[in-house]
Amino acid sequence: MSILVTGGTGYIGSHTVVVLLEAGYDVIIADNLYNSKLDVLDKIETITGIRPMFYNVDVSKRSEIEPLFKMHSIEAILHFAGYKAVGESVALPLMYYRNNLLGTIELADCAVKYNVSKFIFSSSATVYGDNIVPLHEDLPLLPTTNPYGETKAISERILTDVAKANSDFNVTLLRYFNPIGAHASGLIGEIPVGTPNNLMPYLTQVAKGKRTHLSVFGDNYPTVDGTGVRDYIHVVDLAIGHMAALKGMHDGVNVYNLGTGKGSSVLELIQTFERVNSIKIPYQIVDRRQGDVAASYADVSKAYNDLNWKTEKSLEDMCRDSWFFEKNLKD
Ligand code: WQD
Repeated sequence: MSILVTGGTGYIGSHTVVVLLEAGYDVIIADNLYNSKLDVLDKIETITGIRPMFYNVDVSKRSEIEPLFKMHSIEAILHFAGYKAVGESVALPLMYYRNNLLGTIELADCAVKYNVSKFIFSSSATVYGDNIVPLHEDLPLLPTTNPYGETKAISERILTDVAKANSDFNVTLLRYFNPIGAHASGLIGEIPVGTPNNLMPYLTQVAKGKRTHLSVFGDNYPTVDGTGVRDYIHVVDLAIGHMAALKGMHDGVNVYNLGTGKGSSVLELIQTFERVNSIKIPYQIVDRRQGDVAASYADVSKAYNDLNWKTEKSLEDMCRDSWFFEKNLKD
């Protein structure tokens, strides 16, 4: 039996593939390389000694994805594939709704048709909207501020309804907080296309001299130092969280936050990065970014109680590993 990992050459997908291969799982990757490169397979092979099976397919196209279900005996689907740039989703909403929702729909339909009983979905803490922290899985969801966020919220609802209608189809919705860091080997990590939108990739590019300075979006939030607070999670911890979710799959629909439970401000992240890597990061305070919330961090008790999973890595580890990856990256 194999685990189908969609988006398996991407940032979070590739780290999860490594964790699964190292644990002895048989992995099949489906990815159309829209936001990743084929050489990630070489890197995965260097790290694990195993080359996972790979299909260059678009999971939102039924004719491309269904043959995999005919060819292989699939035990579980880990669905990472999807567009993820918030700003781009505002400019190109249909592209986001089409790709992200059809991907979820076609995969769920294939799962039901081919008796795949386990479906793990990459959701996001963005589905909570501007809510009460620490964010608990039982909170009523609030509107997100962009189509990307809506595709996550709608995908959650689609999968929940499919599970209600099919008792053999079980779903785990994993709400990621802010994944950063990279594999300790420095071989795989996040490679943003164009100007990074997220804090850590921007920061590492400033550290490398690719950008002059970091803009800190607002210093007048009701937080510890006025800058935005987020729950940064090391991508390897996040990957291990997926394996815990796979092993601890329950019947029906289950939702888990994957975070550390600890919030860090933008300035705290900058200071930690500077300290562990001995690099000065020039920054300027600018206006708030539209759509940002003041603070977002997880209540992580449910994942710990149900899946026996919690994070192991510190903010220092995240800053060190993010920089090690960026430093080794050939631009
Ligand atoms: C973190 C903090 C910023 C950049 C978004 C999406 C979410 C998601 C992850 C996608 C905030 C501040 C940032 C910069 C800054 N999923 N910041 N200067 O906004 O929590 O989440 O990305 O894949 O859906 O909403 O993450 O890394 O963009 O920002 O000051 O140049 O850093 O204001 O407080 P965010 P982020």
